[in-house]
Amino acid sequence: MPITIRPLSPVFAAEITSVDLTRPLDDATFAEVENAFETYSILVFPKQKLTDDMQIAFSSRFGSLETTQGHIANNFQVKQISEISNLDPQGKLMKADDPRVVYRLGQRNWHSDSSFKKVPAKASLLHARILPPNSNECGQTQFASLRAAYDALPDERKRFLDGKAAIHHYAYSRRNDGITLTNNKEDQRFPPVAQAIIRANPRNSRKALYVGSHASHIREMPEAEGRALLQELLAFATQEQWTYMHHWQVGDLVMYDNRAALHRARPYAITEHARVLHRTTVAGEGPTIQ
Ligand SMILES: [Fe+2]
Repeated sequence: MPITIRPLSPVFAAEITSVDLTRPLDDATFAEVENAFETYSILVFPKQKLTDDMQIAFSSRFGSLETTQGHIANNFQVKQISEISNLDPQGKLMKADDPRVVYRLGQRNWHSDSSFKKVPAKASLLHARILPPNSNECGQTQFASLRAAYDALPDERKRFLDGKAAIHHYAYSRRNDGITLTNNKEDQRFPPVAQAIIRANPRNSRKALYVGSHASHIREMPEAEGRALLQELLAFATQEQWTYMHHWQVGDLVMYDNRAALHRARPYAITEHARVLHRTTVAGEGPTIQ
């Protein structure tokens, strides 16, 4: 049976129903899902009763998975699922000044997951397990289409940016967010990396303007000038008309293409309501530039 695809905005994002991700998809159905992912960048699969193992199995069909590094926000565990949660290991709400809460504030800025790694993430999948009661205050996730942004750039700008690299640096974005929890270990683990500013999708050749909060400056350009240009491009890329806001429901699995979309977490009453999402991350296939 073919999958049902319902576009969620005129630009990108689609809801996929008539698939049950608790069981392995046959190859033909998976090919349709994969095709939809490459086309729409954001896929929403509602009402999926997934265990971690099921989420890992589905995610793994898109490529090898990143493992979480042990750090303060995940209680120093290394695994394929990372928990985005405001509950401590005893199941109690964390306090606003808890380092694990503070650490996540950076997710409120527009970013592409793992763009600070030499091989950045291809896709991330978030599964909603526990949410605040009001779906308008559930900690929405907002997405912005980097393909729409690229398409709207003036030709002269496209030519100027083609072949240029931005330097993405984890310590830069963390400092920018006012988060001083990075330590030397993290700085060493994630040294500055170069990423192509214009990226083409290997399957359909659609181009995207690959910017975000981890992008610090532009290679072979004076630092202040490059930074100003990146800030201008980020503001351009995240205009309302190219965004989709996801209002979470328990059971939603949302998959997003980090090569073609930015995302940010919207604020919610983090110290009042439990919110738990489980994330898997599909690694990219190689560096974006030499
Ligand atoms: Fe993220």
